[in-house]
Amino acid sequence: MCGIVGYIGYKKASPILIQGLTRLEYRGYDSAGIAVMEQNKIEVKKDKGRVNNLYKLDGVEELKGTIGIAHTRWATHGKPSKENSHPHLDNDEQFAVVHNGIIENYNELKDDLIKEGYHFISQTDTEVVPNLINYYYKQDKQEDSLKLLRAVKNTCMKLKGSFALEIISSKEPENMIVVRKDSPLVIGKGHGENYIASDIPAILSYTKDFYFLNDYEFAYLSRDEVRFYDMELNEIKKSTKSIEWDSQGAEKGEFEHFMLKEIYEQPRAIRETIGTRLSNLKVSFDELNFTKEYLENINRIYIVACGTAMHAGIVSKNLFEKLCKIPVEVDIASEFRYRNPLIDEKTLTIYISQSGETADTIAALKLAKEKGAKTLAITNVIGSSITREADYSIYTHAGPEIAVASTKAYTSQVTILALIAIYCAEILERADMNKIEALKADLLKLPTKVDEILKDTTQIKKFAKKVYKEKDMFFLGRGVDYAVSLEGSLKLKEISYIHSEGYASGELKHGPIALIDTGVTVIATITDKELVEKSISNIQEVITRGAKILVITNQNIENKGFETIIKIPQISTEISPVLSIVPLQILAYYISKEKGLDVDKPRNLAKSVTVE
Ligand code: M6R
Repeated sequence: MCGIVGYIGYKKASPILIQGLTRLEYRGYDSAGIAVMEQNKIEVKKDKGRVNNLYKLDGVEELKGTIGIAHTRWATHGKPSKENSHPHLDNDEQFAVVHNGIIENYNELKDDLIKEGYHFISQTDTEVVPNLINYYYKQDKQEDSLKLLRAVKNTCMKLKGSFALEIISSKEPENMIVVRKDSPLVIGKGHGENYIASDIPAILSYTKDFYFLNDYEFAYLSRDEVRFYDMELNEIKKSTKSIEWDSQGAEKGEFEHFMLKEIYEQPRAIRETIGTRLSNLKVSFDELNFTKEYLENINRIYIVACGTAMHAGIVSKNLFEKLCKIPVEVDIASEFRYRNPLIDEKTLTIYISQSGETADTIAALKLAKEKGAKTLAITNVIGSSITREADYSIYTHAGPEIAVASTKAYTSQVTILALIAIYCAEILERADMNKIEALKADLLKLPTKVDEILKDTTQIKKFAKKVYKEKDMFFLGRGVDYAVSLEGSLKLKEISYIHSEGYASGELKHGPIALIDTGVTVIATITDKELVEKSISNIQEVITRGAKILVITNQNIENKGFETIIKIPQISTEISPVLSIVPLQILAYYISKEKGLDVDKPRNLAKSVTVE
């Protein structure tokens, strides 16, 4: 979950490294550090605190070296402190390492190294890595150009768990080695310089040409060249992929926070996600080659994801079932992977992940693949780990999402899932064609309708001012409105630290209604015209018990004692969450802002969860 950056070139490395880390702070922000090669000697500057603190550390300004590695940390092993910050050095200070991931067997490795006379100064799992490199380097009596690479490779063979590693060494001051296993890492190719990062946006302003490493592939970098090696240290060839994202996408621009910018980018994100897939009202996916025979044989679809991505999956369940007449189960990835799900070759499994790096989601995919199921990944990041594992990959085109709270990724995911459901339904010919045509027409209207909501947000801002000091809130809905309530509730809790629950309206009186008392805020979403009356009855039940109600609706509902009604545009119910989530995102944003919290970097969270 940590962010890593590296530079090897002719420019002063430290500003590039720190700027890169600043762009990656959404990955972790409890400590930061850099190591720069200064006249064949490694200089490390690090401390707990945010990346900006690095500028204040003694000697950072004076660093002149043009090769360096950097890290922003989300603590796993050992509290945030200077000692536990990365980069970590070996006992002889000849190898510096930054690491993203978890070394699961570090205790065992540490014991072995202690027996060999090594000592440790941090509580991290990472510190075994530079010391193991030191150990293998010393053991190796062969003096050739692959000596350092061999030491790194032998080290990696000992590690269990996940890692993306950057290594510099005074033994080879003109080179850098990077390697990954189950943790993200990309290499940006420049002219006479190369960049490394855990995420593309960190280095997007320098290059658009990227190399992607597979697990256990090593990159051996100099300023002018990147050589790649497999596990046996055979040289392999790789070519770059060009990334379309524009570097502005990773900047805040005129917006106060990334989250707000990303909320406002939704019309464009949805439009680009639909792209040419729905031109002339036909749904096509070049990435998929599903035949009628294949789809007819599917016994079940699993949609697997975490957090917001999983909520997008819940929205799409009804649509898949309605249009394709195939049973769909939506699972939390961390549960799915350990519950021995019923999967065989007739199962289609769909994984949703904005980052494409979420450890549980990738592990769930690998499990299904082992059992013979087809795997389809939906992600926002080109070349991300999940795309290298899945049988099929489909990209949303939301552009870089930097704020920890996911917004435009969600609306793009709901949109693409609807398109995939329609694509399958058209091949299967099991659905009412009028319904399909209506959905297609409505999908094309989504960007304009989101724009309409965003044009006037004054009512939501006002409501945020009224309720920002509250301790608990409830989000209610039925059908897709329940699905959107789960997401609205997650948005609120993660950035405002207000406890909230998303509940199916009809389920409230089976327990949670006991928590409703005078003044408690309840936010109800009503977009399914078949369920309006029932939803209103549920709201009346909480009004009677003193609740303060905000209603988000596209129906003509009479105000029966609600505090505020926010009207949103009409759209087919199955895709209405793309619209109804927008006021809920804005509400969470303004509540967090009113409370003076760090909207983009909420406490304890990181943007992509690359550990299980
Ligand atoms: O990158 P992913 O879509 O796999 O991430 C999944 C969740 O970690 C993510 O959606 C998380 O719940 C967000 N912080 C929610 O805003």
